[in-house]
Amino acid sequence: MSQDNNKDPKEFHDDIESHDYDGIKEQNNPAPFWITLLFLVTIGFSLFYLVHYFGYPGNKMDQASEYAKSVEEHEAKQAAIKEANKANMPELSLEEMVKNGKALYIKNACMACHGAGGEGNSIGPNLTDNFWLNGCSEEEIMNIIANGKPTKGMTPYKSMMSEEEIKYVANYILNELVGSSPANPKDPQGTECK
Ligand code: HEC
Repeated sequence: MSQDNNKDPKEFHDDIESHDYDGIKEQNNPAPFWITLLFLVTIGFSLFYLVHYFGYPGNKMDQASEYAKSVEEHEAKQAAIKEANKANMPELSLEEMVKNGKALYIKNACMACHGAGGEGNSIGPNLTDNFWLNGCSEEEIMNIIANGKPTKGMTPYKSMMSEEEIKYVANYILNELVGSSPANPKDPQGTECK
């Protein structure tokens, strides 16, 4: 601004005559048109932004709605994958499920705590009687195998076996172990399943 001091005041455009305080004058030097335009555009944009991204009026563009939408999309995708996996799984006969289940019972060392024939030992309960600590439906048996009961010493297997595999083992227990008569059976625990 220092060079301005040497200018003839006439060179400034538009003196505002009334804005003269003891010889100190205020000039009217409007900002260049492009800056003014930019300024107006930012105001316009902020209004658009406010209305559009804060979800008014219920256009579901706000953060919470966007989040809910992403969750929904993800869940739909997962459900589709699960469906597709199920479709790829051949529908096994009970006999095949039991056979697979037996192999998995051996492979996952269930006998360490339940005995080779499911008779139970000092750690795990007898799986051949019809007395259960955690329920006797296929669903309940799958649940105890998947989630275990770490406080009582039953390992959770859901990270080691797929849902299908857990179903096979549950079917092996329900259809082959239950009702069999292994040597040295452990005394029944829990309630009888009717
Ligand atoms: C480290 C020892 C251990 C291993 C290995 C183990 N279990 Fe268990 N399991 C237990 C114990 C202890 C319980 C009893 C839990 C309770 O008190 O409810 C149990 C309970 C169960 C039950 C429920 C029994 C009932 O009466 O409700 C089933 C079914 C079962 N186990 C299946 C399996 C299968 C199948 C495997 C192998 C994939 C397996 N377990 C491996 C210790 C084990």
